[in-house]
Amino acid sequence: MTARERVAGNVAGYVDDRTGAAKWMKKNLTKVFPDHWSFLLGEICLYSFVILLLSGTFLTFWFDPSMKEVVYNGSYEPLQGIKMSAAYASTLDISFEVRGGLLMRQIHHWAALIFMVGIVVHLMRVYFTGAFRKPREFNWIIGVGLLTLGIVEGFLGYSLPDDLLSGTGIRIAEAIIQALPVVGSYLAYFAFGGAFPGEAFIPRIYTVHILLLPGIFLALITVHLMLVWYQKHTQFPGPGRTEQNVVGYPLMPVYMAKAGGFFFIVFGVTAFLGAVASINPVWLYGPYTPGQVSAGSQPDWYMGWLDGLVRMAPPLESYIFGYTISWNILIPGLILPGIMFTGLALYPFIESWATGDKREHHLLDRPRNAPNRTAIGAMALTFTLVALINGGNDIIATTFDLTINQMMWFSRIAIIVLPPIAFVVTKRLCLSLQRADRDLVLHGRETGRLVRMPNGEFIEVHEPISAEKAWLLTSHEQLAPLELPEHDEAGVRRPGALKNKLRNRISRAAAVAVPKATETERRELEGHH
Ligand code: HEM
Repeated sequence: MTARERVAGNVAGYVDDRTGAAKWMKKNLTKVFPDHWSFLLGEICLYSFVILLLSGTFLTFWFDPSMKEVVYNGSYEPLQGIKMSAAYASTLDISFEVRGGLLMRQIHHWAALIFMVGIVVHLMRVYFTGAFRKPREFNWIIGVGLLTLGIVEGFLGYSLPDDLLSGTGIRIAEAIIQALPVVGSYLAYFAFGGAFPGEAFIPRIYTVHILLLPGIFLALITVHLMLVWYQKHTQFPGPGRTEQNVVGYPLMPVYMAKAGGFFFIVFGVTAFLGAVASINPVWLYGPYTPGQVSAGSQPDWYMGWLDGLVRMAPPLESYIFGYTISWNILIPGLILPGIMFTGLALYPFIESWATGDKREHHLLDRPRNAPNRTAIGAMALTFTLVALINGGNDIIATTFDLTINQMMWFSRIAIIVLPPIAFVVTKRLCLSLQRADRDLVLHGRETGRLVRMPNGEFIEVHEPISAEKAWLLTSHEQLAPLELPEHDEAGVRRPGALKNKLRNRISRAAAVAVPKATETERRELEGHH
């Protein structure tokens, strides 16, 4: 035993004598994780969250969340002598006076954008592979909570500097609160501590941004990861992988090294972006004045879809019992997002209801083998993308020499027409890919070698695929549609017959598939070759 090993052993023994941690560590450090690049997406969220905490803490040392009016006399000349809030002035100071301040501001903002991209892409990987199925439904719901909080946290963050862009965003938020029937105007007064914009809002959202939401984030992320730990990670089907085991590498040393390295890659990319790519240059926008809006005002991308929905809404208003109901804000600002997020959160339950599949799943699906789910995902993404594009309608209109009206009408029509088209096209694509898999198993791989037969006919030589690949392409399950009886043995309609009919229909649509190649078919064809 070398001296170093002896010291390490002594330290470990010392800690174990006092905490009894050795057994626990041994069990957990050797825990096996499956390997796939897409499992790193959740880690990107985690690491950018850590970067957000670190860079955000730095910013709190100098940011002054106050609406007190000050006259700017810092080093940025174009704004000298101008009245502004202390919040805005301190943001300018962080940018121009504090050493490394601008870099930290930019790292913080880039980390927020990467965090949100990470969350959305991670969500897509979980969705399209069916990782949300039993027993992971709760973790899915926690995920939807994290997504929602991320959007709110980001919005509050870029609202803090009290520049013209953030003030414009807060004004929209106020309008959305006011659109709530009956209680809206009271709630807005409550949130702003009086009439808009008031002096209370920035200090209030500061507390929420740096204390309340990060605390909730930490708690939710901890539970999220504990559940991944406890339920074990899903894996893609492959040799030796079953619903009962996990095939992969141990946490220590393989994943510790990988995860540590990956953290520094994420940090490096964020720091690089913060160093070279300007983001939210608030000094160009000027301080917030309620009477002004700068041309080309754009929210961060994760809010863009909501802005886009509001921008495309037709001017609908009703007057009921002396109350004004602004449907043009209420529907795009509250009702549609409410439906979207509730639908997202409930999706695992809706799918298991529709397919009748209540079993546990630890092996992931290839998206093509769940055509209905994949098509619904494509439909939802198309809807959100059209809304996001319309969020930039002014910029797109000026860049491509269009009018705002053309953009608005394009979006209004596209948001209704394109999602169903995306559904149908994606479903057909999935089925075609299933057919291609079936051909591959039965007829082998096209080699590109053409042979001329004695009778003059040209054929392409096919090569059989490996047994492993054939197994991979045929190992998935193909669920039969539900056949819930509408009538009992005596021919009388059962209670709930209508519900059963609906469920049968949906499950039939969900079960559409190209029958996978069977072993018998394969053998038969082998006989022919
Ligand atoms: C702050 C945001 C989030 C963080 C830090 C985070 C982190 C992680 C990590 C590190 C994993 C394990 C590795 C992986 O599968 O990628 C994971 C798994 C998972 N996440 Fe997230 N996540 C976040 C948001 C979300 C969202 C928005 C959803 C879905 C709505 C979600 C649903 C899941 C599920 C169901 C699993 C288990 C996947 C499996 O076992 O295959 N997460 N998350």
